[in-house]
Amino acid sequence: MTNYIIETKQLTKLFGNQKAVNNVNLHVKKGRIYGLLGRNGAGKTTIMKMILGLTSITSGEVDVFGKNIKGREKQVYPRIGAIIETPGFYPNLTGTENLEIFAKLRGTPAPNAVKNALEVVGLPYKDKKLFSEYSLGMKQRLGIANAILHDPELLILDEPTNGLDPIGIAEVRDFIKNLSVERGKTVLISSHILSEISLLADDIGIIDHGVLLEESSMEELRRKNGNYILLHVSDVSKATLILERQFGLKDYSVHDDHMLRIYDTSLDMASVNKALMLDEVSVISSQLCNDTLEDYFRKITGGDGIA
Ligand SMILES: Nc1ncnc2c1ncn2[C@@H]1O[C@H](COP(=O)(O)OP(=O)(O)OP(=O)(O)O)[C@@H](O)[C@H]1O
Ligand SMILES: [Mg+2]
Repeated sequence: MTNYIIETKQLTKLFGNQKAVNNVNLHVKKGRIYGLLGRNGAGKTTIMKMILGLTSITSGEVDVFGKNIKGREKQVYPRIGAIIETPGFYPNLTGTENLEIFAKLRGTPAPNAVKNALEVVGLPYKDKKLFSEYSLGMKQRLGIANAILHDPELLILDEPTNGLDPIGIAEVRDFIKNLSVERGKTVLISSHILSEISLLADDIGIIDHGVLLEESSMEELRRKNGNYILLHVSDVSKATLILERQFGLKDYSVHDDHMLRIYDTSLDMASVNKALMLDEVSVISSQLCNDTLEDYFRKITGGDGIA
């Protein structure tokens, strides 16, 4: 039994001969917010659609709640709430009326479901305004209310803040966070905006041209891209041995035969240099670096960044 709520294995989607999604292995953990970050056309929506069975899988597998989704769709989908593209709301009905219809279609959940869902997203219950008179932000909120109507354990939200103003974005972020922190929901959310994902997600997957380039916790990513000492030495393995033995250093990463990163920036570099020299390791350079997350994304996506 795995502890993943969603796990994809070598998930691949071909459109003609274009690989829109290429051998993607996602790992979404219980109770966490997983941010799928990628530019336009990276493959985010296609991945979500394959997880939800809205488009066929070319090859690979999707496990949801610990088991392969194949043949279990009927049991599994009621436990998921999703927004992928705007749901088909009726323009000439109010928000409340629209949700009541969706609630009925889904087999009428709890009696207060519509009222509660509207409350979570900050829309009025039994308001007279028709859907056609809603602003874009209100439409987006109604979409999210519809996704949480049946109190699902897992939410899959494809760019839910698209088109919202900054205050709207912050509000949506707050209630998604609440759903995770206070109600223990698991959330898979996509965005092409780095700052949005970095403020919201616990874990992050970076996708580019259909390939998952990196998957890690936000904490780990921040740590690795905060301050560090970049040490250029003649012999990395000898250097790490000395650093570990004499300085008790554990928090470092090795880049190649000559470069390592030390994340403990309080290390006394004068003593380190001396100890390395004594053991015949030459220090070619040591430099305090401070990369931003933007620098990092720019580097790994090989272009002008995401946000
Ligand atoms: N139905 C389709 N037929 C052909 N190609 C498609 C289809 N749907 C998506 N694609 C292609 O697959 C790639 C991934 O698209 P996808 O919509 O998954 O990207 P995305 O990351 O969601 O982008 P965006 O940020 O613009 O929403 C794109 O190159 C797109 O043109
Ligand atoms: Mg998309």
